[in-house]
Amino acid sequence: MDNKTLLEVVDLVVKYGNIEVLHRINLRVGEGEIVTILGANGAGKSTTLLTLSGLVKAGAGAIYFDRTSIHKLPAHDIVKRGIAQVPEGRRVFGTLTVQENINLGAFVCRDAAAIQKTQEWIYELFPVLAERRQQLAGTLSGGEQQMLAIGRALMSQPKILLLDEPSLGLAPLLVKAIFQTLREINASGVTIVLVEQNARAALRLAHRGYVLELGNIVLEDSSQALMANPKVQAAYLGGESTR
Ligand SMILES: Nc1ncnc2c1ncn2[C@@H]1O[C@H](COP(=O)(O)OP(=O)(O)OP(=O)(O)O)[C@@H](O)[C@H]1O
Ligand SMILES: [Mg+2]
Repeated sequence: MDNKTLLEVVDLVVKYGNIEVLHRINLRVGEGEIVTILGANGAGKSTTLLTLSGLVKAGAGAIYFDRTSIHKLPAHDIVKRGIAQVPEGRRVFGTLTVQENINLGAFVCRDAAAIQKTQEWIYELFPVLAERRQQLAGTLSGGEQQMLAIGRALMSQPKILLLDEPSLGLAPLLVKAIFQTLREINASGVTIVLVEQNARAALRLAHRGYVLELGNIVLEDSSQALMANPKVQAAYLGGESTR
């Protein structure tokens, strides 16, 4: 691969108490890529993203972002450097309005003009949010809350956006719409790491993918090759071949 490495995970071990859940995993994300991490329930996907964001601490190994080691930094420093996470379960603040939720995402940015510009971009990406600016986030549909969670994360103007199962619980048409927007976000220069159980949708969007099983990376390949891989088809694509 010839693109510049933006994020690199080297022999990362993560434990919860005495229980090791990530066993020396290695990942690389190039600048401008969309990389997906596939895996069953409990494989360690969320743990991987939480560790990249500094919300869970690495037990051993290292994480490099822009060639700087970040795995010992507090989470707010990591956001400032340009890593933003959309957590599993689209956690928006239900008693705040859409606009207030968006404002919260800008906490690392001091430049009012840049904040304004980013906000306009987010409302262009998600016009439905613009229409609902003053509505309480708790009254949005599931899909709209997912859009808001993505929009809020983008307010920190990340270089890399980490998404934890953005398709969870959404109707197929909405999944399509959200993934299309992720493509646009990527086209505007934001690198994306996408954790998904919806392997088919994820592989269609991503350039490359990793398969995580019980805390080990067992496969790494281009999305095309993963889709054609009989093991991936059997375990993650419902056994069907995908054209
Ligand atoms: N805070 C925690 N304390 C203890 N164990 C945890 C904690 N969070 C996760 N685990 C365990 O770590 C393992 C990996 O969990 P993780 O949430 O990363 O998996 P996942 O791949 O995101 O699963 P899912 O698809 O269900 O979201 C699981 O065995 C889980 O039970
Ligand atoms: Mg998870």
